[in-house]
Amino acid sequence: MASTKGIGFGIAKELVKKNHKVYLGSRNQQNLEKALKELNEIKNHSAFGSIFDIQSFDSLKKWYESAIEKENSIDGVLINYGGPPTGKFLDLEETVWKNTFEFMLLNPIRFLKLIYPYLTENSSVLFVTSFSVKEPIENLILSNVFRSAITALMKTLSKEWGPKIRLNCLLPGRIDTDRIREIDFSISKIQNTNLEEIRKKFQDQIPLKRYGTIEEIGKVGAFLLTEESSYLTGCNIQVDGGMIRSLL
Ligand SMILES: NC(=O)c1ccc[n+]([C@@H]2O[C@H](COP(=O)([O-])OP(=O)(O)OC[C@H]3O[C@@H](n4cnc5c(N)ncnc54)[C@H](OP(=O)(O)O)[C@@H]3O)[C@@H](O)[C@H]2O)c1
Repeated sequence: MASTKGIGFGIAKELVKKNHKVYLGSRNQQNLEKALKELNEIKNHSAFGSIFDIQSFDSLKKWYESAIEKENSIDGVLINYGGPPTGKFLDLEETVWKNTFEFMLLNPIRFLKLIYPYLTENSSVLFVTSFSVKEPIENLILSNVFRSAITALMKTLSKEWGPKIRLNCLLPGRIDTDRIREIDFSISKIQNTNLEEIRKKFQDQIPLKRYGTIEEIGKVGAFLLTEESSYLTGCNIQVDGGMIRSLL
């Protein structure tokens, strides 16, 4: 799904380096063309794609139909899209909850039903969730709630769809992308502090003392999407520089 920037793009790039073909997506044609150009420069005819918006299941369906026209079957699917709005419980109207339920949970569910018949034997489905499923994030209740529901969906399907299909979740900690910069900016506004201070505060809490790169998480995502991870299913793999404080 979303793969023209950030974590999705990092994963697509690693897959292309490993000689896989990828079908990219996002809302914006320019972002798509830029990403396709970069990947096809690594390996010609390795990357294709079209636009979609996770907010509209119709557009997701069209995106998928274009992908399937290219190849007829699918070996791996990355379920990824932009994150939900920030906010605390009392800040959020019921309409925001309904809309987030629709795009973060229901549209991925509809999508999985649609693609199931096209998934090949030994195929892999990878959901990008968040460290919020292990440690709820302040001011991001929508992520805390719906990512946990996706985790339960993944675990249940890993039992229902095995041994044919493997399903796992990838849990980013703080990976240096537009999304994390947006969140840090929103925290700096709330705390009336500058962005550099917020970032330093987070980096100090990470044992590896820095944010991750899309290349670093891309390698783990590509591993989980391909045969190299053939005995992994139902797992939550965190890529967080040691940030999450829980034992498991
Ligand atoms: N970065 C982190 O450290 C971190 C931590 C925890 C969780 N996450 C989660 O991981 C996911 C990926 O985050 P990221 O950091 O890679 O974000 P990002 O750098 O902002 O990239 C998001 C990607 O999704 C696409 N996109 C955004 N909204 C979309 C929509 N409505 N429909 C279709 N595509 C859409 C964007 O392209 P267009 O703008 O062209 O549509 C872009 O390709 C998000 O759900 C985020 O909440 C990230």
